Amino acid sequence: MQILCTGATGLVGYNFIKAAAEAGHKVTAVCGTRELPQIANVSSVKCDLLDEHATQRLILDVFPQIIVNCAAISSPADVDANPELAEKMNTKLPERLAILANHVSARLIHLSTDMVFDGSCAPYKNTDVPMPCTLYGTTKLMAEKAVLKVSPATTVVLRLSHVSGNSLTRRRSLHEKLLLNWSLGKKLKLRTDEIKCPLSAERLAEMLVEICDRPNLSGIYHYAGLESVSRYDMGARIAKYFGLKPDEFIEPVQGDRPMNLTMDMSCLAARTKNRSCMFDELLPEMKVPPDLESWLKSKTGKAPIKRYKL
Ligand SMILES: NC(=O)c1ccc[n+]([C@@H]2O[C@H](COP(=O)([O-])OP(=O)(O)OC[C@H]3O[C@@H](n4cnc5c(N)ncnc54)[C@H](OP(=O)(O)O)[C@@H]3O)[C@@H](O)[C@H]2O)c1
Repeated sequence: MQILCTGATGLVGYNFIKAAAEAGHKVTAVCGTRELPQIANVSSVKCDLLDEHATQRLILDVFPQIIVNCAAISSPADVDANPELAEKMNTKLPERLAILANHVSARLIHLSTDMVFDGSCAPYKNTDVPMPCTLYGTTKLMAEKAVLKVSPATTVVLRLSHVSGNSLTRRRSLHEKLLLNWSLGKKLKLRTDEIKCPLSAERLAEMLVEICDRPNLSGIYHYAGLESVSRYDMGARIAKYFGLKPDEFIEPVQGDRPMNLTMDMSCLAARTKNRSCMFDELLPEMKVPPDLESWLKSKTGKAPIKRYKL
């Protein structure tokens, strides 16, 4: 199949384009400011998705059978810092992609977030009424409504919990950010009362490929890890996995109010073969960014457990 993936240089998109190409699909990978390395079966294209004409031209040129939208302003802090840009990227762009997908008779797989919920009454089913308490969650919820309105029968909205894994930039995922900060001697405060179900970017990529291969799937689904874990607990288990002492590097703190964003993914699990996993199964997938290897070795006396192969 001909797949067009936006946000191909991001954490989710980069893992997805590799899995889709490996599964034999022809992939057009849309990059914003960053470049991709060469990957077989992947042709990469630079396009500012805020440029409506360029985006339209690209989709008409490629004429994809599936559009997977991984482009976004994905950090809640970045959304707060630039709400106008966030609305354009997180709400208006998905709506335009849905209209273009409909025009070329393509399916749209759009990624959303557990943060469409406020965290006060978990676990959340895909049929529960969303109520975001952040601007990020609001921009993502507006997009969900917009894309499903355009073409409900050919659109999948996949809400994700916290994505763990290895990124193209080696700076995007939690373990990459923690290792960088720890190498700079920073002790980080992590919340014990913010609960997520961390999932693997690699397994998510396999799930997205499966969704591409199942044309009958449409509507809203949840995809998450099988275990509810606090942000502090994630940090502590990552530190231990890399041979570091959690007490030296992280400090437990609490937020203004507890937030449990555990998602029930049984609806998707009943319709697909790929399985999610527990947090401990994600740890062996985490690689040490090459520029931090010598710091880690000096700290633990051991060579890194896994190396990047980009
Ligand atoms: N990561 C998570 O834990 C998580 C959790 C829940 C939901 N999600 C959702 O999953 C999706 C993917 O997230 P992610 O973590 O992979 O995001 P990410 O790593 O922040 O990547 C964002 C992508 O968007 C692209 N982009 C931004 N502005 C652009 C523009 N004007 N034109 C073209 N491309 C542009 C970036 O391209 P360049 O870098 O090349 O500029 C990058 O490839 C998002 O919808 C996010 O809301 C993520």
